[in-house]
Amino acid sequence: MNKLVASLVSLALVAGLGAASAMAQENQGAAPAGEEHAEGGTPHYPIQHPKHVDWSFAGPFGHYDKGQLQRGLKVYTEVCSACHSMSLVSFRTLEGLGYSEAQVKAFAANYQVQDGPNDDGEMFERTAVPSDHFPSPYPNEQAAAASNNGAAPPDMSLLAKARGITRGFPQFVFDIFTQYQEGGPDYIYSLLTGYHEPPAGVEIAEGTHYNPYFANAAALAMAPPISNDQVTYDDGSPQTVDQYAKDVAAFLMWAAEPHLEERKRTGFMVMVFLVIFTGLIYLTKKSVYASKEH
Ligand code: HEC
Repeated sequence: MNKLVASLVSLALVAGLGAASAMAQENQGAAPAGEEHAEGGTPHYPIQHPKHVDWSFAGPFGHYDKGQLQRGLKVYTEVCSACHSMSLVSFRTLEGLGYSEAQVKAFAANYQVQDGPNDDGEMFERTAVPSDHFPSPYPNEQAAAASNNGAAPPDMSLLAKARGITRGFPQFVFDIFTQYQEGGPDYIYSLLTGYHEPPAGVEIAEGTHYNPYFANAAALAMAPPISNDQVTYDDGSPQTVDQYAKDVAAFLMWAAEPHLEERKRTGFMVMVFLVIFTGLIYLTKKSVYASKEH
């Protein structure tokens, strides 16, 4: 019996090590972080791994900083919304940022949305109400691409969840234990603060802008969208690209996952329950088998 257990354990170990070394080898094929281009073959994107930001919503007890989300909303509305839609987010969810019903109503009233058809079969424009979603800046994707050098700006509703760049072995193993889930906002922050001149010898297509944090290529169709002092903050926070990038990335994380705090709280309660339950099971097992000889 003992032998069987021992051989099973060693089998599992061998299988585990095999898989780990296979993954390590796979990883060696990729360009290491910080290197401009892999030798010879096509470069591996993103050229640089996203910078790591200390978010308030990280970790098992993470929570959103409402002041930061409100600033992020301001950056989105005044800058990003000129090109990026956010069509899955309705105005009334902004109450989650700490706004009152009346404030949300006033905010929605700044927008015009298409409604209809009316009795004559025609579509018409009307002032938005809290149950409407953020309207798109372009009538359709083709129009969006045509106005942006052929690349349509992606919808922002789920962008922060969709851009959790894979971190590769061994980082993703540690991520399980540190509960790292901020790849998306780290990516958005890095992209917004990562523009610079292309290094010598790197050619980029006309109308694109070099950015080593972009996941698809060495350059993207979006010009640096924001500059210092572009958005006025009324809470005294620094009006810098760095701060704007953090705030809008946090806001987009909230837009993609407004129930993050509840999810983390429930997860913690489940873990507490499991610990107590394991103790109870152990005591039950001990008492049931108390009279049995080994
Ligand atoms: C002038 C239009 C314009 C504005 C303003 C703008 N963007 Fe973009 N954005 C684009 C375009 C176009 C793309 C697609 C780029 C591509 O695929 O080459 C894009 C792509 C992106 C991406 C996705 C990159 C990826 O991995 O696919 C992010 C993130 C992004 N924008 C964030 C922002 C944020 C945050 C703001 C506001 C601070 C903003 N953008 C403002 C045009 C704009």
